[in-house]
Amino acid sequence: MAEGGPSRVLLRGGAVVDRGGVRRADVLVDSGVVAAVGDDVPIDGAAVLDCGGCWVGPGLVDLHTHLRQPGREEAETVETGSRAAALGGFTTVVAMPNTTPAIDSAAVVREVMALGATALCTVEVSGAITVDRAGERLAPMAELARLGVRLFTDDGTGVQDGRLMRRALEYALPLGVVLAQHCEDDALAAGGVMHEGAWSSRMGVPGQPAEAEELMVMRDVTLARLTGARVHFQHLSTAGSVDLVRLAKRSGLAVTCEATPHHLTLTDEACQGYDTAFRVNPPLRPAADRDAVRAGLLDGTIDAVATDHAPHDQEAKERPFDQAPPGMLGLETAMALTLGGLGLGDDPQRLFALLSWQPASVLGLPAAAGVMAPGAPADLCVIDPGERWVVDAGRLASRSRNTPYAGMELQGRVRHTVHCGEPVVIDQEAQR
Ligand code: DOR
Repeated sequence: MAEGGPSRVLLRGGAVVDRGGVRRADVLVDSGVVAAVGDDVPIDGAAVLDCGGCWVGPGLVDLHTHLRQPGREEAETVETGSRAAALGGFTTVVAMPNTTPAIDSAAVVREVMALGATALCTVEVSGAITVDRAGERLAPMAELARLGVRLFTDDGTGVQDGRLMRRALEYALPLGVVLAQHCEDDALAAGGVMHEGAWSSRMGVPGQPAEAEELMVMRDVTLARLTGARVHFQHLSTAGSVDLVRLAKRSGLAVTCEATPHHLTLTDEACQGYDTAFRVNPPLRPAADRDAVRAGLLDGTIDAVATDHAPHDQEAKERPFDQAPPGMLGLETAMALTLGGLGLGDDPQRLFALLSWQPASVLGLPAAAGVMAPGAPADLCVIDPGERWVVDAGRLASRSRNTPYAGMELQGRVRHTVHCGEPVVIDQEAQR
């Protein structure tokens, strides 16, 4: 609980959503936990948050957030990124390690954890699989795991060397940590700045084939079988990748995966104006891939929506399409894009499953329980599914502006966010 904040908060008039179902109830938060859920919870002394017309569920969990600290503070900081997260309904984000320096040592892990301690959401710090993400030798995974790192990834690049990846999986197994892979075969993707297909040909821009992603998914499914260790596939974007994971799960392998809001809403056609806001890695794909990602999210093949929130400063994104860095903002628009992109207006449970308790279970976080009951941690997200709003890039809390959704009307908005019992967003306003 933040100093000076109310210790009792009543979320009144909403529909409570959890793994068990959806029901009309008020929720009382007291001293950092859910104290009561029901129709006649005691109000005395509680600050009241109006939840009329809203879904009240567990806080959202993002497995894939670039907070840019240390080293790229002009693009984002833990403070600004966590504020964007809170406004987007997230109460936990996993900070990616492709910082400068990379999060590959105890010193940098401690630095980011210290920054996260005062943030508006819980910051889980991930570590690099290899030193400096260079793909040559393993980072001190055991030491970082002892500090509390639960997920390792070289995100931004995939571990190219199959032998090294095998070794990393063998180390991960007894440590109980998750290895997450950015699936991209460097040799096959080399030089490609968008998806290789009809649009890249028409635009005269070098592309990278879907197979550059799929080859690494295929290899790591095989390595999961060889080692018995868990692999989590990040931001899957192709129909072939979704099929590979579906088959791997059917054969009982311990694999999980995520997809981004942009891969379920946009296609490579959006790149036709050479607008660098649409340059991202993995690249936007044709409609058949987007539809396969949607289907995978709806049939349980894809465990989680993860934002890949990737802030870049304006100067960098103003370069020509082939020279601008890949990446787009995600935290403040993810929930609405998932709601609209998957048509979940009548299915709040699936929305919260994909954005809250399923990503939490990938990491074994307490939110995996997905219960709104006395004793549960008071990390909560209140969503108004009917509110329409226009994305105003100038008003985003992120320090960067690189959203491809600027000016677009979305439906569904986070009204309040409660983190560790503290209302950090009230009526769409961050409280600090
Ligand atoms: O588009 C991307 N941007 N993909 C990545 O894998 C890395 C990210 C970044 O860090 O900017």
